[in-house]
Amino acid sequence: MQRSLYPHNYRRFSSQYSQLKIENSYFLAFRAAAELLEKHRNIGNKLLDFGCGTGRSTRFLKTLGFEAIGVDISQDMLRQAQQVDQGDYCWLDSKEIPFLEQSFDVIFQSFVLLEYSSLFQMINTFEEFNRVLCDDGLTG
Ligand SMILES: C[S@@+](CC[C@H](N)C(=O)[O-])C[C@H]1O[C@@H](n2cnc3c(N)ncnc32)[C@H](O)[C@@H]1O
Repeated sequence: MQRSLYPHNYRRFSSQYSQLKIENSYFLAFRAAAELLEKHRNIGNKLLDFGCGTGRSTRFLKTLGFEAIGVDISQDMLRQAQQVDQGDYCWLDSKEIPFLEQSFDVIFQSFVLLEYSSLFQMINTFEEFNRVLCDDGLTG
């Protein structure tokens, strides 16, 4: 059952993943994300980095000025994140994002949804985004 939620072996590769930098094709994706976020900067500062992994994306978002909290289903990835920056990281142990309704102005994800193996999982995630995002919030 865990397998369908967790298709990649981040237990094994979390320390290698934490070495990844924002460069090459990653640079292009993050640059585009920064431009998009900048356009909507007036929306607000509270940001959820969904599937933050080892915190690479969370740290990047903080450099843009956001108050970013990272959540992830992999405790191994989160452990690596904490080792780098002791930031605000939170384990997602169920399908529910552990925050109240309308907690965030922005929900960000990078390279997460492409790992999903079912439409059901995708729908559940977007329902949760809808719940924890402010009415006029931004997700992408
Ligand atoms: C490719 S990594 C990307 C990490 C980070 N966003 C980055 O850009 O460096 C994908 C991350 O998504 C997480 N993930 C996969 N499915 C998830 C889910 N259903 N809920 C939360 N995180 C998930 C994985 O554990 C992994 O850490």
